[in-house]
Amino acid sequence: MDRREFVITGAVAGLAATTAKRAGAEAPNVIIKKRARPMVISDRSGIAYTNGGPQSAVEKAFEMIVGGSDVLDALIAGVNIPELDPTESGIGYGGLPNERGVVQLDSCCMHGPKRQAGGVAALEGVRTPSVVAKAVMELTDHHLLVGQGAQDFARSLGIPIEADLNTENSRRVWLEWKRRVDPNHYLDPAQRRRRGYEAGLEMVREGLIDEETFWGTINCNGINADGDLCGVTTTSGLAWKIPGRTGDSPILGAGLYVDNDVGAAGSTGRGEANLYNLCSYLIVEKMRGGMSPKDAGMEALKRVQRNTVEERLLNSRGLPAFNLRFFVLNKNGDYAGVAMYGAGERTFAICTENGAEELSLEGLLEGSPTDE
Ligand code: GLY
Repeated sequence: MDRREFVITGAVAGLAATTAKRAGAEAPNVIIKKRARPMVISDRSGIAYTNGGPQSAVEKAFEMIVGGSDVLDALIAGVNIPELDPTESGIGYGGLPNERGVVQLDSCCMHGPKRQAGGVAALEGVRTPSVVAKAVMELTDHHLLVGQGAQDFARSLGIPIEADLNTENSRRVWLEWKRRVDPNHYLDPAQRRRRGYEAGLEMVREGLIDEETFWGTINCNGINADGDLCGVTTTSGLAWKIPGRTGDSPILGAGLYVDNDVGAAGSTGRGEANLYNLCSYLIVEKMRGGMSPKDAGMEALKRVQRNTVEERLLNSRGLPAFNLRFFVLNKNGDYAGVAMYGAGERTFAICTENGAEELSLEGLLEGSPTDE
């Protein structure tokens, strides 16, 4: 018997022994609840940031899960760490702002056993959008609140609304971006938009901002010993975006999908590519059909590649000029971290009884998105 699949709890084992003694015969068949191996999976932000404290997101979430907390409560407490960390410029407080210099945040969460979900998009002034997403799930009849409505909702709960979530760093690199795109601002709006995107990628290539923070996001999924699955995704979205732009992160089925009977999947990377293909839903459905987490994730990446035909989105090799990553967990606790390219941000994080580990992402394509 696989110890990870079937663990006789002390109470059940004790019951079996007592019953056997009383009957003076062999132990009768007892119903043993199928157990899973508790674990947490996330992108690299889940292990790389601690906000000056002792734990990363995956460590915090795992500790709470094995301590008996609700899985989603644990995951939210985990992702609050990079959300609040001013040095993580792709998530929460200090996230890179939109083109007007305003930090707008997106998040969603799903609770597998309760079959509930909630999300917020283009939320300003709240450092931890995942907390508001969970409140949408728990306190409203809705799944998604956006913009001013999301902020008003947060204020109504007593959550502090701040005038500005920029840090010195996010403001400094935003001003640098403005400086780079200003020469084109008043010539041709279409050119300006393209120049803005190119300037962002240029800044990634020059090492001014990390590729992972350009579309910076954390997705964090977890499972407890009862096999209950939850997930959360939270982000400041695409740096320098058009105000109001919402990517995949707060959209159920895109930035996150959880089915408690099957598994969970979530994403980081170019949100538009994921939105078009609703990959997290696709991955969970592929797992429902019997695929492993890795094969299901690769299948979604192949779908994205097939649907990427616009020249502006292709590199000179005719391949997607962006990265997209999925963090996948099934009902048995099997997992995978897959990416369009295993380049750039190369790792993802897990936490199990063995502690937190940083593992290599498996890439669908060789090289990097910007390879000529
Ligand atoms: N995946 C994050 C975003 O595109 O907003």
